[in-house]
Amino acid sequence: MFEITFPPKDDRDYDQDEEWCEVAFDGEQRRIRFHDYDEIYSIPGLYDQLFYDELRCDSPRTLCALLADCIAEEDGDADDLRVLDLGAGNGKVGEQLKLLGADSIVGMDLIEEAAAAADRDQPGVYDDYLVGDITELSEDVRDELSERRFNCLTSVAALGFDDIPPEAFAHAHNLIEPGGWIVFNIKEEFISEQDDSGFSRLIRQGLDDDSLQLEADRRYRHRLSIAGDPIHYVGMVARKQADLPVGVPG
Ligand SMILES: C[S@@+](CC[C@H](N)C(=O)[O-])C[C@H]1O[C@@H](n2cnc3c(N)ncnc32)[C@H](O)[C@@H]1O
Repeated sequence: MFEITFPPKDDRDYDQDEEWCEVAFDGEQRRIRFHDYDEIYSIPGLYDQLFYDELRCDSPRTLCALLADCIAEEDGDADDLRVLDLGAGNGKVGEQLKLLGADSIVGMDLIEEAAAAADRDQPGVYDDYLVGDITELSEDVRDELSERRFNCLTSVAALGFDDIPPEAFAHAHNLIEPGGWIVFNIKEEFISEQDDSGFSRLIRQGLDDDSLQLEADRRYRHRLSIAGDPIHYVGMVARKQADLPVGVPG
């Protein structure tokens, strides 16, 4: 267990992507920003203790339970899932998908440290784990991914801020077979009318033109902020009906 110290009580009013803590590690006190995933993943156990134990994140389980409900409602079988897990991190979503009984799970993340952490924290969960930018795949890798005939995309706690942009989400969506499940969560502000990140327009357009057929959605507490306030996200499970436009729709 790490000794994790949050900023003093009168200094906890940070934007979600600016939050930080101090961790005693290797004989020194390190200040770590929550979005410095490379550093967090490199310290075994820190990601899980910080986000799951201290800040009560429960998004992988919540989203996978929502997916399981949708599958059960259609008398489907989770054993048939061939999943692309985008922004897979150290494998918390993979862990839940494995518990559901998914047939195969491929992880993808932008940074090497995530792949190493998934191998360390969830060994054997991912059939493959790619490191790179999904908007810049070589033709060979794109073909390899297409051959996997994914019928499910998961992207949990990874959309928005400086993480996965709308264009990357659209690329991943377009790798899923028609009829496949699209499972994601996003901070509620990013799907509000006022949002200018591009997600609101992309998702609205998908729902309006039926590229995305919504099967379930749920507003819930994604985690606590360092001030102890709930951070609300919306979880969605949709069926892919058609590709999404790559590039932010106008
Ligand atoms: C908060 S973590 C979530 C990890 C995991 N899905 C979970 O629920 O625990 C966000 C992850 O998204 C990854 N990420 C950020 N931008 C990305 C991109 N453009 N493509 C793929 N992964 C990205 C980060 O490296 C990080 O591992």
